[in-house]
Amino acid sequence: MKTTLITGGLGFIGSSICELLLKKKYSDKCILLDNFGGYMNPIKDNFIDFRKQRFPSLKNIIIERCDTSNYKALSSIISKYKPNYIYHTAALPLAKVSNLNNEEAKISSVDSTVNIIDAINIIQNSNKRFKFNRFVYFSSSMVYGDFKTPTVNEQSEKNPKDAYGIMKLAGEVVTEGLCKLHKIPYTIIRPSAVYGPKDMNRRVSQIFIENAFEKKKIYIQGKNEKLDFTYIKDLANGSVLAARSKKGVNEIFNITCGKGQTLLSYVIYLKKKFPELNYIIQARDKTKPSRGTLSIKKAKRLLGYKPKYSLKDGINEYFNFLKKNFRY
Ligand SMILES: NC(=O)c1ccc[n+]([C@@H]2O[C@H](COP(=O)([O-])OP(=O)(O)OC[C@H]3O[C@@H](n4cnc5c(N)ncnc54)[C@H](O)[C@@H]3O)[C@@H](O)[C@H]2O)c1
Repeated sequence: MKTTLITGGLGFIGSSICELLLKKKYSDKCILLDNFGGYMNPIKDNFIDFRKQRFPSLKNIIIERCDTSNYKALSSIISKYKPNYIYHTAALPLAKVSNLNNEEAKISSVDSTVNIIDAINIIQNSNKRFKFNRFVYFSSSMVYGDFKTPTVNEQSEKNPKDAYGIMKLAGEVVTEGLCKLHKIPYTIIRPSAVYGPKDMNRRVSQIFIENAFEKKKIYIQGKNEKLDFTYIKDLANGSVLAARSKKGVNEIFNITCGKGQTLLSYVIYLKKKFPELNYIIQARDKTKPSRGTLSIKKAKRLLGYKPKYSLKDGINEYFNFLKKNFRY
């Protein structure tokens, strides 16, 4: 009987991991621990609440409302369910908001990570027969800051440029240090520019496709601005692969598409579906790190990770989802 607890389990990435684990029967039960937070104004804009669509069925899913900063509540949930795996995706996931609210970013990425590891340590020590398999910390490509080379690998210099990246990196340090101290097997995942159905944080990929549906102009910040756009299913697959593989123990992996592509190329794929689409290229936002490709050689070599979705395929699936499910 394998139990998985996913912090931030109601979110974009957490819910996709849950779906995969249950579908493939890698877990018998998923505990989704979430504070039911939201970062977008649900009244303003063209906000669409995707939360219900994330869970077509609640079979083998238990939802626990809890904030990871509340140690007492968190540790009692962890001791109650004694999960074999914990995927820690809960965090303030937006750079802009983290920069405005450093304290909240610290609480969600650093303090909460300490709390979870501490709670795992307690259940490990209280029951020697209990087998804890893996703590998976979700970091970000923002830990690298401005990429010094077109492609970065896991060893490349970490020089975060904003509060979001700084807190994500601090969470990595906490994970590596405390997990080694308490002999807790861990894996760190560095995703980048994840896109696809049911995202509702209004990051660039979502804004672009929704603007296209709504016949609104698209503003591209930076002619040569590149991101390693990663389809949600590839990220979920790669993360689960890393968590389940012995070769993933105490390792860090870039889990992305492995190909930096310009924002313009994303819009050009969209233009094939929306020939009328209008876009304007503006100056790049210099507060954002300049990024590119995250090498996935390590994940390929150790885990056999192979992303399935090209940007074109990912946009196609995302487009079909929006067309089928929403008001467009
Ligand atoms: N989406 C991306 O492109 C991307 C890229 C790199 C890294 N990440 C990281 O992946 C993780 C998940 O991101 P996402 O895109 O799924 O975001 P999301 O907002 O869709 O999901 C995050 C979930 O965590 C919950 N949450 C936040 N703070 C919490 C707290 N303190 N206690 C309990 N629940 C809390 C929210 O309610 C939400 O349901 C984050 O750690 C983010 O930094 C995401």
